[in-house]
Amino acid sequence: MKKISVGNNVFMYPMPVTLLGVNILGKPNFMTLGWVTRVNANPPMVGCGVGKHHYTPQGFDENKTFSINFPSADMVRKVDYCGLVSGKDIDKSKLFEVFYGDLKTAPMIKECPLSIECRLVKVVQNPTNNFYIGEIAGSYTEEQYLTDGKPDIRKLNPLLLTMMDNRYWTVGEYAGDAWSIGKNVKIG
Ligand SMILES: Cc1cc2nc3c(=O)[nH]c(=O)nc-3n(C[C@H](O)[C@H](O)[C@H](O)COP(=O)(O)O)c2cc1C
Repeated sequence: MKKISVGNNVFMYPMPVTLLGVNILGKPNFMTLGWVTRVNANPPMVGCGVGKHHYTPQGFDENKTFSINFPSADMVRKVDYCGLVSGKDIDKSKLFEVFYGDLKTAPMIKECPLSIECRLVKVVQNPTNNFYIGEIAGSYTEEQYLTDGKPDIRKLNPLLLTMMDNRYWTVGEYAGDAWSIGKNVKIG
């Protein structure tokens, strides 16, 4: 099959949809975040790409802490709202019920099935976005989202995002066990 070019703007396919939480002037602010990834195994570290012009960078500067919250698909409207409006214009602090963990200043969302709190360790300045790297200080879920003590993707029912078409999706079918299903592949 002939390959055709679709430009240089195809992002990771798909992306997780998360809500990035920071405290600004003592109040929680949440922005929708698709640019999030693991960056180190031990200590466990994550990174997120945040537009420099957003309100959220002020919270990173103030507290050096943040949270990543994984919403379930039924939260899609509120999730989209957090990506449409800025805390500079609208107070988003009452949109969700908030709780705090050990770090005390990383606001987490009660209705999200899974939340992690992070201590900021590094900021990589890029032309339009800052890449914030944080060490995971704690993660929080509820018994109802676990199977055999581990987060279960069917129960979390997370949201996925595709760009360039800008659409939300839910998770599809189980496709095999990782670090296992490839063991018997023969080359040649
Ligand atoms: C689905 C979705 C994903 C988004 N992902 C990101 C992202 O990864 N990084 C980013 O800087 N902005 C992202 N945005 C845009 C911000 O969430 C949006 O500009 C938000 O209003 C910023 O909020 P704040 O000004 O209160 O910080 C996304 C928006 C949507 C709708």
